[in-house]
Amino acid sequence: MNYSDILRVKENFQGRDLLSISDISKEEVLIIFEVAKLLKDMLKRGEPHPLLQGKSIALLFEKPSTRTRVSFEVGTYQLGAYPLFLSRQDLQLGRGETIGDTARTLERYVNAIMARVFKQDTLEELAKYARIPVINGLSDKEHPCQALGDFFTLWERGELKKEMKFVFLGDGNNVCASLALLAAKLGVNFLHISPPGYELPASIRAKASTEASANGVYSLHTNNPQGGIRDANVIYTDVWVSMGQEEETEKRKSDFLPYQLNQSLLKLASPDVKVMHCLPARRGEEITDEVMDGPHSIIFDQAENRLHIQKAILALLV
Ligand code: CP
Ligand code: NVA
Repeated sequence: MNYSDILRVKENFQGRDLLSISDISKEEVLIIFEVAKLLKDMLKRGEPHPLLQGKSIALLFEKPSTRTRVSFEVGTYQLGAYPLFLSRQDLQLGRGETIGDTARTLERYVNAIMARVFKQDTLEELAKYARIPVINGLSDKEHPCQALGDFFTLWERGELKKEMKFVFLGDGNNVCASLALLAAKLGVNFLHISPPGYELPASIRAKASTEASANGVYSLHTNNPQGGIRDANVIYTDVWVSMGQEEETEKRKSDFLPYQLNQSLLKLASPDVKVMHCLPARRGEEITDEVMDGPHSIIFDQAENRLHIQKAILALLV
């Protein structure tokens, strides 16, 4: 892939939304990876890549963010476009203007909307009314940009292999859902380990397991951390209490306690296991300092790759 190829492959992507991992095929995921790698290399060489010169991108947030906000804002700038940070409280949305009217207004000014929302329905509504691409920057259901950046991190290291075992330890929430769907799509064995009651939604499990079987791999769940982590090539975790679940904090902390990613659990994985986390982490809860800062961790490479993968997504969709 070279710079001029981006314009050619873009034809198939332009104008589409990215609300879920299910919106893209395996072939399209691999094109996004190639474009991300190219843009990452160009950035490191100091070569400009103003693929979206003169465009504007709205970045709408209903929840806090460090990585998503900064990587989208900086990435948009690096592509030659203008990023507008919009928080729900500052918009008329916060005073009851509808999502539909907001979408129909924004599309007259900007060329795409990235949104972090409480409900996936809000994204669907934005996409219904805006004739410009809408990108999911985290919802209650999924975090597709996160999962794409994470699998890109494995792919660029040459560690994305069919026979590998990818283990997610923690809540069957947004991040886990996008990872399960993407693992199935890419033909990677996926095991979710959680306490009872924190499984993925049945619809996601069914979709992931059907696609995994079609690709010759498994997508399974267990309650047993010690058994599940055995031979893992990747162990991934996320916070026990996601944004918006604060009132469940005490119950979740006690339910998840036996599911902490610590040194004694990590010892049961493959000797060259990679440790991953979407961040932000609650050090001492779902992951210990020793593991997070230890030799197996590729956590900050993941964080960096949010920038490169989202630039590829924007360059292709907008
Ligand atoms: N991983 C992630 O999306 O981080 P932020 O909440 O900081 O954006
Ligand atoms: N599951 C976490 C992910 C944060 C990036 C949350 O929704 O808060």
